[in-house]
Amino acid sequence: MGEVEFECVRCGSRIRSGGDEDSVVCTRCGDGLQVLPDLSSLSYDLVKRRWRSRPMGVWRYREMLPLNGGGEVTMNEGGTALLRVSVLGGSDLSVQAFVKNEGQNPTGSFKDRGMTVGVTRAKALDRRRVICASTGNTAASLAAYAARAGLACLVLVPAGGIARGKLAQAIFHGAHVLRIRGSFDDAMRLVVEASKRLDAYVLNSINPFRIEGQKTAAFEVFEQLGGQAPEWIVCPVGNGGNLAAYWKGFQELKAIRAIDRMPRLVGVQAEGAAPIADAVRRNLEEIVPVPTPSTVASAIRIGNPANWRKTVRAIRESEGLALKLPDEEILHVQELLARREGIFVEPASAAGVAGAIRLANEGTFEKGDRVMCVCTGHGLKDPEAALRSYIETPAVEPTLDAVVAAVEAGP
Ligand code: F0G
Repeated sequence: MGEVEFECVRCGSRIRSGGDEDSVVCTRCGDGLQVLPDLSSLSYDLVKRRWRSRPMGVWRYREMLPLNGGGEVTMNEGGTALLRVSVLGGSDLSVQAFVKNEGQNPTGSFKDRGMTVGVTRAKALDRRRVICASTGNTAASLAAYAARAGLACLVLVPAGGIARGKLAQAIFHGAHVLRIRGSFDDAMRLVVEASKRLDAYVLNSINPFRIEGQKTAAFEVFEQLGGQAPEWIVCPVGNGGNLAAYWKGFQELKAIRAIDRMPRLVGVQAEGAAPIADAVRRNLEEIVPVPTPSTVASAIRIGNPANWRKTVRAIRESEGLALKLPDEEILHVQELLARREGIFVEPASAAGVAGAIRLANEGTFEKGDRVMCVCTGHGLKDPEAALRSYIETPAVEPTLDAVVAAVEAGP
């Protein structure tokens, strides 16, 4: 296995992996690491023909990934649609809005991009057990990829705090699901501590290989827009891994001279769980953790995000913005996407689009701007959230008259 170089996101220490072990945190200061790719010999002109000869998906961009030993644990993740939408204000066509529909991934969320790389790394390191804390999607994705790789999988979730679709996935893929009496943040702290005692490889987004997989979404968007970066990327933020991954992806596209202008990033959180949005908006040096985060968008119900440093930095460097939105606004946009665009997403996913609509109404965008909203997970993940206001009507008799009468009476 090739050597990989990492850089600490806080103290800047450089760490080399000799190939036999991965630490997911800096051995000097304990903060997160990111992979330092060696792009010196790469240029877009050189790789573009190779990319185009391969199918869409994470491994299309293998030159940009720190794993090249083969043996990928994959389910053809990535290659999701970039859809034109009109929800940013009916007649105002001067802004072009897009949705990157990450719910199309194999387990229904963007997490699969990171898991194909992360679980491939676990296999290459000859690890037998993987572990994560999760608000649901990470657990579902890790459970599926671990099943495919033949690894034991342990997931820690907040008891009562994750959507049933995700719980069903994790259980059915054979993970050991441990429900913790506490929040996601408690589960996350425990995972880092427990991973050594239990000899388990951590596959939360603090694992830098996860981010490597997730950054490929930026490469796809670039290709889907005909070889350009959008002006804006609007993305829901929980732990902060995904927005940081987009930033890394576009930085690398710049490094290989594929683009010369970076997008501006907008991170969107729910009002009751917004430590990153608060830190950006109040220009704080550090986040102030939220002790009891609360929002209907359970996927982003996180009070002490592990990747906050990377995300806050990415938003600032991009001259971006951070928003926090009330649950009602998020749920309203979830419904709007379903009814107007045919796109069914879970509440957290709607947060990005809701943020873009808010900014459009405030006049933030300029004529011609391309605004790309990341929809992170499928609506089927969280049927309870979707059916919260549905009142079951009485069933009708199986006769034509009864059906016609019911239709005429209206829904
Ligand atoms: N959207 C969805 C649907 C998610 O599941 C998550 C995170 C996010 C957005 C936020 O992404 O953490 O990279 O900022 N879900 C994690 C999980 C925490 O455990 O499934 P982030």
